[in-house]
Amino acid sequence: MSDILIYGANGYSGRLCARVLIAGGYQPVLAGRSNAVRGIAREMGCRGIVVPLDDAEGLRFALEGVRLVVHVAGPHSETQEPMIRACLDRGVHYIDLAGKVSELEAAYAFDRQAADAGIMLMPGAGFVVVPMDIAARMASDALPGATSLTICVATEGGASRGTIRTMLKDIDRTGVRVVDGSLEEAAPARTQYSFHVGNRSFEGVLNPWRGDVFTAFIGTGVPNIEAYQALPDFVVRMMRGRMLWMRDLALRFGLRFIPEGPSDEKLAKGRTYISVIAANSDEKKRIAFSGSEAYLFTACCVREIAARVLAGNAPAGYQVPSIYGKDLLDGIEGVRWIQV
Ligand SMILES: NC(=O)c1ccc[n+]([C@@H]2O[C@H](COP(=O)([O-])OP(=O)(O)OC[C@H]3O[C@@H](n4cnc5c(N)ncnc54)[C@H](OP(=O)(O)O)[C@@H]3O)[C@@H](O)[C@H]2O)c1
Repeated sequence: MSDILIYGANGYSGRLCARVLIAGGYQPVLAGRSNAVRGIAREMGCRGIVVPLDDAEGLRFALEGVRLVVHVAGPHSETQEPMIRACLDRGVHYIDLAGKVSELEAAYAFDRQAADAGIMLMPGAGFVVVPMDIAARMASDALPGATSLTICVATEGGASRGTIRTMLKDIDRTGVRVVDGSLEEAAPARTQYSFHVGNRSFEGVLNPWRGDVFTAFIGTGVPNIEAYQALPDFVVRMMRGRMLWMRDLALRFGLRFIPEGPSDEKLAKGRTYISVIAANSDEKKRIAFSGSEAYLFTACCVREIAARVLAGNAPAGYQVPSIYGKDLLDGIEGVRWIQV
């Protein structure tokens, strides 16, 4: 019997999570809605289960004996709820790769039920939001009474089809920032912020859907929080509502012509850069580090969280990744601290 079930395991990120978990000594069950998952499970020497998310009885059966679900099927806005309900029903801990504020908020609505069921719900267990959420907590701990957090990210190495699909869907939609202790609507890319990590400098634009705005608010209570991200120029234009024909074309026809996700070479070469500034009227504290490529980072976050959950460190209810602290990032290959 396996402790971990990965749902969406035939997708790019699901396969990568499986590879990293198996290399870490785990033997996950690989599940998904299509038959492809069986072949992948066979190749990886794991058990495979085909079950669609609308088959509640099938999900019940699939979760028999499982202690943790890693839910990787996305867009999560379309897949989260049935799996969370199945986990509540079966008393199984749940983590996923949701990365948008709306997806994290949707999972937060199950906080009370998760607490009652004695299970942990931790959406955002990938590169978005784990490292930023932990760094935000570190920065606010370094400056007690901080009144603002500015959370900045840059990545090198490309994106998976699944991420591009999820991002394009809502690219020009209003998101949030935290203003005076409340979530307030904010339009994407309307403000800019320059940041640096070591000797690398970046121009970020406001990314108001990135989930760490929400989790950092829950985890730190700092009353003003904004997320910035360095993005290619054509993405910034779409965020500002321009060139949306390109988005429509990509969603309808274009995605199948691009690679499923970064190649192994890109995974090995890519890097991520994170800088979080906590400030009050007199002082600033900064946490900065670089890490491995974002999808590899994601799979390592899943492995590190899984290890903690299976060791019994899984508080009931909705939890943000920063509960695991800097120690979690220290366990991830390739993390280089620049300012702590
Ligand atoms: N937070 C982060 O840092 C992070 C990192 C990586 C990925 N992600 C997110 O994770 C998701 C998956 O990414 P990916 O790279 O693996 O994409 P992908 O290669 O396109 O895989 C998507 C997976 O989701 C499954 N799926 C989609 N809709 C489904 C539904 N309604 N019911 C059941 N299964 C469904 C697909 O199954 P079929 O093959 O049967 O269609 C496939 O297994 C995306 O939303 C992406 O944004 C987030």
